[in-house]
Amino acid sequence: MTEISKAEILRQKDFISRISDINSKKEHKPLAFVETYGCAQNFNDSEKICGMLSDMGFGFCENKEIADLIIYNTCAVRENAEMRVYGNIGAIKNIKRKREGVLLGVCGCMVQQEKIAENVKKRYPYVDMIFGTHALYRFPEILANAMEKNRVFDIENSEGAICEDISCKREAPPLAKVPIMYGCNNFCTYCIVPYVRGRERSRKVEAVLSEVRQVASEGYKEVMLLGQNVNSYGNDFKDGTSFAYLLGEVCKIDGIERVRFMTSHPKDISDELIDVMAREEKICNQLHLPVQCGSSRILEKMNRRYTKEQYLEIVRKVREKMPDIVLTTDIIVGFPGETNEDFEETIDVLKKVRYDTIFSFIYSKRGGTPAAVMEDCLTEEEKHKNFDRLLEVQNEISKEKNDEYLGRIEKVLVEGASKTNPEYMSGRTDGGKIVNFKGNTDMVGKIIDVKITKTQTWSLGGEVL
Ligand code: 5AD
Ligand code: SF4
Repeated sequence: MTEISKAEILRQKDFISRISDINSKKEHKPLAFVETYGCAQNFNDSEKICGMLSDMGFGFCENKEIADLIIYNTCAVRENAEMRVYGNIGAIKNIKRKREGVLLGVCGCMVQQEKIAENVKKRYPYVDMIFGTHALYRFPEILANAMEKNRVFDIENSEGAICEDISCKREAPPLAKVPIMYGCNNFCTYCIVPYVRGRERSRKVEAVLSEVRQVASEGYKEVMLLGQNVNSYGNDFKDGTSFAYLLGEVCKIDGIERVRFMTSHPKDISDELIDVMAREEKICNQLHLPVQCGSSRILEKMNRRYTKEQYLEIVRKVREKMPDIVLTTDIIVGFPGETNEDFEETIDVLKKVRYDTIFSFIYSKRGGTPAAVMEDCLTEEEKHKNFDRLLEVQNEISKEKNDEYLGRIEKVLVEGASKTNPEYMSGRTDGGKIVNFKGNTDMVGKIIDVKITKTQTWSLGGEVL
């Protein structure tokens, strides 16, 4: 693992001071509008962009019409996310016409792909900054150049490097996201992530712990440890450091009451991890374990490196130690070559595992991945029909799983007021289920006992005891 050198960090800090000086002399604090697509990792990257912007004297707004700086942090996992970004960049043309001096940046996974970045550069000449995931720490320099009216195109692949010491502007407590590693080595054949986020590299144990201590001191109660495959945390140190060890250390930190993590690759779930989850009170009773597909034949084509039977065995082992664990998964419908019989195997896994929730996607072809050139057999219509059926089967299971909570008393970490009714608060159980109940904002950040009185497919309702 290489870390960005102290000298380079100081160089970026110098750009931060220069921009901050310029901004402090302006009549009004300039405003930034930052929109993020995709996964928790991308949202964490945006928290860093906002942290740097804050250090540079920017305020923030939720209306791009009044913004001085507009940033789109993009996702490349599926085509629909990319389409939305193209639509949004197109719409900024008018804003730039109306208000001179507005700067527009497009960053993240989508533009870490050279062809796409070139396309954005050509098609939208008014985009001032195009920079990939690897350039995140160079954002102050990129912005300084753009402010001097130079168009910036920075998709250089500095893969392997980790940059500590970037400010982070998080959402208000109680939940904090803390990355523990970056990149992915798995190369599932449908997935673009290893190409845009580089190889796996773990942050040092001490760097993770110090960030968790920091958020604890700021009043955050729950941390979500992030990585594309947290189970391989520490493999790159080659000294036996494991994710289970890191979890144990995080749990020792005072003030942090709940620890969650995402995502776990089933092939790397160790007995040591299951043991530490069962043992440590603070580790939430929840596991996100993407199965992707129930057919062993398709799993092999996906390069997932487990069979249906091996996956079910992992679930059995997990449930043996944690009988009421909340299990969630990701599923792709319509991978190239998937037949209706293969799809039935996925339905079978759903019925056998009985997940609490699933996140399902129709396969989206990603240029440059091995699956993009594999032969397909089902029509789009058939894929959609299967997708709808998957949801139907799962919705029934989700509702039944939630019904089991009726009358139970759950410990709920209160996150904030409900978006639809301010008299109602919203929080999560230890298992990660959303609970809505009548309350007040004094409860935010506290763990309170709620009796579950109502169940729906996606959430629970209750009364404070
Ligand atoms: N098409 C559809 N879904 C995908 N995912 C990753 N790549 C693709 C793709 N090309 C899904 C997987 C992964 C989740 C984050 O996104 O299910 O677990
Ligand atoms: Fe993509 Fe597979 Fe890596 Fe997850 S484990 S990021 S699905 S390649």
